[in-house]
Amino acid sequence: MKKMISFMVICTLGLFALNASGAGLSKAPIDMQEVSEEEKDKEILRLAIIAELDAVSLYEQLAASTKNEDIKKVLLQAAKEEKTHVGEFQTLLLRMDKEQEKELKEGSKEVEELLGKKR
Ligand SMILES: [Fe+2]
Repeated sequence: MKKMISFMVICTLGLFALNASGAGLSKAPIDMQEVSEEEKDKEILRLAIIAELDAVSLYEQLAASTKNEDIKKVLLQAAKEEKTHVGEFQTLLLRMDKEQEKELKEGSKEVEELLGKKR
């Protein structure tokens, strides 16, 4: 678990480093120096989710860009793993942010009311 978390942190930091070099990924929307101690962990988790979603998007775009089937296969597998990381960080965030948990359910309910339940 510790090893996995270390990997995710490196992965996340790597994406923000890519961002700093202008690779078109999301910019960190907040200055962590300005965040209160009480809010810091929630902001860390939100940034981690953003980074994982950027990774999904990047890997899927790269996979779509190559004709090499081996590279495509590995990139799509990596994208799938990043989606798991989104779920891990989201689960942690929802444990800490009850308002987010409630509003996530509210958003799902609104879409289901508008479009019907997903089959
Ligand atoms: Fe990741």
